[in-house]
Amino acid sequence: MRKPITDLIHHPYVPPAKFAAPQPGVFKASTVFFADVAAMRARDWKTKAGYTYGLHGTPTTFTLEERLCALEGGTECLLAPSGLAAIALVAFAFLKTGDEVLIPDNAYGPNKALCSGELANFGITHRLYDAMNPADLAAKLSDRTKLVWVEAAGSVTMEFPDLPALVGACRARGVITALDNTWGAGLAFAPFDFNGTGQGADISVQALTKYPSGGGDVLMGSVITRDERLHRALKLSHMRMGFGIGIGDVETLLRSLPSIALRYHAHDRSARELATWLDGRAEIAQVLHPALEGSPGHANWLRLCGASDMAAGLFSVVFDARYSAEQVDRFCDGLKLFRLGYSWGGPISLVVPYDIGLMRDPGIARWPHKGTLVRFSVGLEDVDDLRADLEQALAAL
Ligand SMILES: Cc1ncc(COP(=O)(O)O)c(C=O)c1O
Repeated sequence: MRKPITDLIHHPYVPPAKFAAPQPGVFKASTVFFADVAAMRARDWKTKAGYTYGLHGTPTTFTLEERLCALEGGTECLLAPSGLAAIALVAFAFLKTGDEVLIPDNAYGPNKALCSGELANFGITHRLYDAMNPADLAAKLSDRTKLVWVEAAGSVTMEFPDLPALVGACRARGVITALDNTWGAGLAFAPFDFNGTGQGADISVQALTKYPSGGGDVLMGSVITRDERLHRALKLSHMRMGFGIGIGDVETLLRSLPSIALRYHAHDRSARELATWLDGRAEIAQVLHPALEGSPGHANWLRLCGASDMAAGLFSVVFDARYSAEQVDRFCDGLKLFRLGYSWGGPISLVVPYDIGLMRDPGIARWPHKGTLVRFSVGLEDVDDLRADLEQALAAL
């Protein structure tokens, strides 16, 4: 007779199958059981045909991966513990000693730091290129170039590049392109099919931390492709580096993903309204929002995103040079609804002042502004309240 403590663990009860509810079931596992040794030996961890170990996928992670593929128009997806980890996964899957990676000067900063840190330590070089000048990228492609990053819009300064031209230059040389698609989120444009041409990036990375999560409470990244060969290489690196993610976070993502388009649209509408309003203010020298005329790359945004008429809820402003950096800091401190904090895509509006002089390489493209830049991530608050908050902080200047 078995003792109750054993039956507590090896309990015979199996709930009836075919439970249906709005949210999919949540399966938490490191260990996965096999029916017998033959099944254990036959199992191929590289496919979604079954389960091997928690790190290689569960019904819950597979479900999120498939839904993200649907969003971005890809066929294969891998999840990583953060957006930056997803970026690192791409680098480690495709670069080895002696290779070179090209990265836009206005790329997400920590991607550049990864290049000058770990990748340099492994003997992988990187070069920055001017995202707004496809000829600069084309001139820097060499036999050593094995990966090119593209990003639209550029981080913080929001320039919208000619993505089809950048990707086209790489394709002509057979170089893999990886798009940081966090801004577009699979909604503003199709990352694998620019304007219905069937041409797009080879790999799309998203920080799911932003719009797919939408809560400011989850860190996760995705790496999506349409190319089985690229996916295989990524899957091998993913396994070897042991990138696991908390299933509770996957559950949160599955809960928020269905509302992503509504939220993205709401962030976009409020951001455009505030950006347009700030454009008319004497305190502001330049508004940087790709959907606004006069913003760098607006024509590129129009060509790629005109059909969706979508943009993320992010924009930056450059203050008139008569305001010192300290005054602009005080403006940020004076905001009451906009909170000081990194990241974007959550319900609460955020603000960060940046010193662009420290972030851009003067040898790539000259930053034309003298005033201090402030980046806003517009949340889901009422837009009139947000405008009033900006107005009172501007008045205090
Ligand atoms: C454009 C972009 N890509 C990637 C990331 C990295 O995402 P995570 O914070 O999940 O590492 C961020 C985060 O701010 C980002 O802005």
